[in-house]
Amino acid sequence: ASSLAQAGAASGRTIGAAIAANLLGNNPYTTIVQTQFDGVTPGNEMKWQTTEPSQGSFNFGPADQIVSFAQSHNMKIRGHTLVWYNQLAGWVNNVPASQILSVMNNHITAEMTHFKGNIWYWDVVNEAFNEDGTRRSDIFQNDIGNAYIADAFTTARAADPNAKLCYNDYNIEDMNSAKSQAVYSMVQSFKASGVPIDCVGFQSHFIVGQVPADFQATLQKFANLGIDVQITELDDRMPTPASSANLNQQATDYANVAKACLGVSRCNDITTWGVGEPDSWVPGTFSGQGQALLYDSNYQPKPAYTSFLNAL
Ligand code: XIL
Repeated sequence: ASSLAQAGAASGRTIGAAIAANLLGNNPYTTIVQTQFDGVTPGNEMKWQTTEPSQGSFNFGPADQIVSFAQSHNMKIRGHTLVWYNQLAGWVNNVPASQILSVMNNHITAEMTHFKGNIWYWDVVNEAFNEDGTRRSDIFQNDIGNAYIADAFTTARAADPNAKLCYNDYNIEDMNSAKSQAVYSMVQSFKASGVPIDCVGFQSHFIVGQVPADFQATLQKFANLGIDVQITELDDRMPTPASSANLNQQATDYANVAKACLGVSRCNDITTWGVGEPDSWVPGTFSGQGQALLYDSNYQPKPAYTSFLNAL
């Protein structure tokens, strides 16, 4: 295959990248996005702090740029994300507790209505669990209670019935973790009680050499609940400067991720969280770490690119 998208399409998988509106037009970045990928996720442009920076005042401009770019290149769009404690507009924390549910539902409805018909899968709720499997203490959990996630999905289904709805999180790729088990139990109870959920997104922010050996089994376990599974924010970080041993291990890791998805019929998307080192969130977030994506600091393909392509 001559591109990741073409390789993925041969087995019915979409291969996406998180992109940034303010980088569109930069090259070779934009050329790589257009030629290698057939899906995009806005990295920040659909988050609450951008889309509803003050109550009832919406700003969809940056996200609209990504939507029109994607549509003009026939790319699928993952919407990310509607309800999340982080990158939340500051005003939300000052809303009286009794009004948080209606504020949340209004945000979901307004944003999904704006993008109605254009979004393939939406990350309705992002990162709602702690590592020990308990619910994260945030404004939604504290003011609405456990039911807020089900409420969010019910509202989302009504707003755009044709969009698939995901719960998205990290450190759930190994089924032995308490967090993975808690998310599994939640989805199981949603399916049993008719709460509309279509998908779980596995962020997959990996450390080189540490892709869980049971990743495919975990994807299959979740898929067996009758939902789609997606790899939504893939990267694989290492200490920088990168050693050739780590770059080779990373090539193995990316191939293993491709194989894990291809081994599960309901795994229909692999999205990397960026294109290359300059646009990766890793160096700015994990001190001394980087080179987590398929392209290097000059947007040249790395060993991981070739092995990922070949494994698709
Ligand atoms: C990151 C973005 O890539 C950064 O640009 C931003 O500064 C912080 O957020 N999990 C998620 C993503 O769900 O939204 C995060 O994206 C990375 C971790």
